[in-house]
Amino acid sequence: MEKICTHPAFEGLIDKSVTELFSKIKTPCYVIDEKMLLKNAKILSSIMKHTDCKILLAQKAFSNYDFYPLLSQYISGTEASGLYETRLGAEEMPDGEVHVFCAAYRDDEFDEILKYADHIVFNSVNQLKTFGKKAKEKGKSIGIRINPECSTQESHEIYDPCALGSRLGVTRKIWEKEMNPDLISLLDGLHFHTLCEQNSDALEITLNAVEEKFSDVLPQMKWLNMGGGHHITKNDYDDLRLERLITYAKEKWELCVYLEPGEAVALNAGYLVSQVLDIIENGNTKIAILDTSAACHMPDVIEMPYTPQLLNASENGKYTYRLGGPTCLSGDLIGEYSFNNRLEIGDLLIFGDMAIYTMCKNNTFNGMPLPDIYKMDINDSVSKISNFGYDDFKMRLGSNK
Ligand SMILES: Cc1ncc(COP(=O)(O)O)c(C=O)c1O
Repeated sequence: MEKICTHPAFEGLIDKSVTELFSKIKTPCYVIDEKMLLKNAKILSSIMKHTDCKILLAQKAFSNYDFYPLLSQYISGTEASGLYETRLGAEEMPDGEVHVFCAAYRDDEFDEILKYADHIVFNSVNQLKTFGKKAKEKGKSIGIRINPECSTQESHEIYDPCALGSRLGVTRKIWEKEMNPDLISLLDGLHFHTLCEQNSDALEITLNAVEEKFSDVLPQMKWLNMGGGHHITKNDYDDLRLERLITYAKEKWELCVYLEPGEAVALNAGYLVSQVLDIIENGNTKIAILDTSAACHMPDVIEMPYTPQLLNASENGKYTYRLGGPTCLSGDLIGEYSFNNRLEIGDLLIFGDMAIYTMCKNNTFNGMPLPDIYKMDINDSVSKISNFGYDDFKMRLGSNK
């Protein structure tokens, strides 16, 4: 059996032979680890039990609906960013609640959204004015996103909805200027989303800011949605503080608290299995070209940016390689990694934490194939759940002939 690196991204592979598990499957492919998904779902469910809050899956991070029947046993429903995710949540997790937040709803889609969603969150007073009454008459629970103007992170500016000039959420100043009692009477809840991969200390700071700015509104609400970005299933997450904050909000304002994490639901529950296609050199740099692409198959590596965990890479390894994809993009680079042994063409390389923000963001730039999706079930049996090919590339680009 091979030695498995101890990073949490590979917790699901401890005591397993990756050669046995993955060497017969066609690369590149994603493998979703059902056992890790279950582990996360149980942690979220225990928070719900301890505090009586409700937790939704933010589908933008993970929308592999084959796993919705499993998740629905532990969480309260789905959160969507627009019509298609709303429909997916309603169709594939039909017993759960269906919430949607969109920065701006379209007139020609709103009636269809009303068919699928039970909770609708608006991003502006103007959108509330345009669509709120109609949604209310259809029996929907209505919310508005507030912007507490409280940044608690510096590392990922593009993921900071409280950054100066943000388009997300209503600031108190705008609330004063644009809100009126009739519009407030349409509201059942407030929503804020300000965090990204953060612990509950950041939530505490944010909740204080929300209370400071909106303490007059909160007692009139039935629910408060604290958004996503809570790294609840990470090993060092302080869940006791989270539970204390949820209980505080619930008791102080007599409302139901919602959380809508994406990342925490599927954290460390997926792998991207790839192969070395070629090894080249430029100056002193050794470069391995893989059959997977950062730009196409793990776009957050470039967008965020970050360097993903790689199984069996070693911090002080003797052999260092830059790993890159096969596309024409010069910057299609995954990162620099060291190994104890030389890489060889055909070697299997396994990236960790690849269930989130990957399959729902991938693309076929350069005609790159979409990786097939496999499931590793709770008995460690690996089987294919989706198959992609040339048609999936072609159908997005033309007349679908
Ligand atoms: C409104 C909203 N809710 C939930 C999430 C999920 O965040 P995460 O996956 O970081 O938990 C996001 C992420 O951008 C979001 O914008």
